[in-house]
Amino acid sequence: MAISAADLVSVPIEYIVPNVTLPGDVYFKLSESHFVIIGREGTREHFKSLHFYEKIKDAVFIKKTDLRKFSSLKVLSASEIMKNDDAPIDQKVDVLSHTMASVFTNIQELGFSNESLGNTKFIAGSVLKVINDTPKLSLLMSLMNSISAEIIRHSMAVSMISILIAKSKGWNNQSLLEKIALGAVLHDIGLKEYPAEFLNKPRASYTAEDLEYYQRHAFRGIEILKTVENIPDEVMAIVGEHHENAIGQGYPRGTRDVRLHPFSKVVALADAFCELTFKDVNNQNPVDPDQALHIIEFSLGQPFNKECFVALKNVLLNGIKRASVKIV
Ligand SMILES: [Fe+2]
Ligand SMILES: [Fe+2]
Repeated sequence: MAISAADLVSVPIEYIVPNVTLPGDVYFKLSESHFVIIGREGTREHFKSLHFYEKIKDAVFIKKTDLRKFSSLKVLSASEIMKNDDAPIDQKVDVLSHTMASVFTNIQELGFSNESLGNTKFIAGSVLKVINDTPKLSLLMSLMNSISAEIIRHSMAVSMISILIAKSKGWNNQSLLEKIALGAVLHDIGLKEYPAEFLNKPRASYTAEDLEYYQRHAFRGIEILKTVENIPDEVMAIVGEHHENAIGQGYPRGTRDVRLHPFSKVVALADAFCELTFKDVNNQNPVDPDQALHIIEFSLGQPFNKECFVALKNVLLNGIKRASVKIV
């Protein structure tokens, strides 16, 4: 029986681990309703050797029911690359971005689950490892800029900048940094159910209704995470408070600095910094990190937690100091 478009999901070819046994069938779209198998489950992946590789490389299709299998294989293969000390940093970030995209697609199509939590923890731990190996802001920013998918670039960049701020504050406890990284990777999970047409609209063009709907993503993120047990409270706080600010002019609650979780203050600043420094639908003219700090300080009136802002400034001025240890 022919496969129906409703049973399939489009994925970039990078989701599929090269040269291993395919965990499910892979399809190419001939027309709106006609798909052909280009790789069968149980056979070895060999797409690069196909003479029509150029045609298929932008998007192939897999069955929605196979997403988990492809995503698990991707995580497994990425974990091998992350363990390899000889693998260059750009390869690690590239693999990590595609793995993150596959995990996010999985969450989008099948919902958040214990398995997604495990996979997201792997991503967060890997982001932390990348920073431990390469704590250099300019290099990390240029690696982030090479990631084409906006939501992936944003989540990874916010996670990296959050870790840099946290380390600059002297927070060096591994499990604490892992929670910040995890919360930052998941901070916009509430947007997962929003239609692409809505998310592709610049926020400057939103109506009051659109804005209210958009701002609900912080609450929605918490509701999504609540469906799975054992999400650390710190991660919940980050997701719910990443649009709050120190002066109480953020959303959804307008909570002031003293009431905000210390990790939320870090991620809120990292989020604002990344929105200014990376190109996306809301920002066609990204600025460099120095200008971003200048804008936050003088145009926005520095509404974020003061210590976090100073810590980020120090990252730009001095890089990360490795030795300091401070308990939150
Ligand atoms: Fe957000
Ligand atoms: Fe964000």
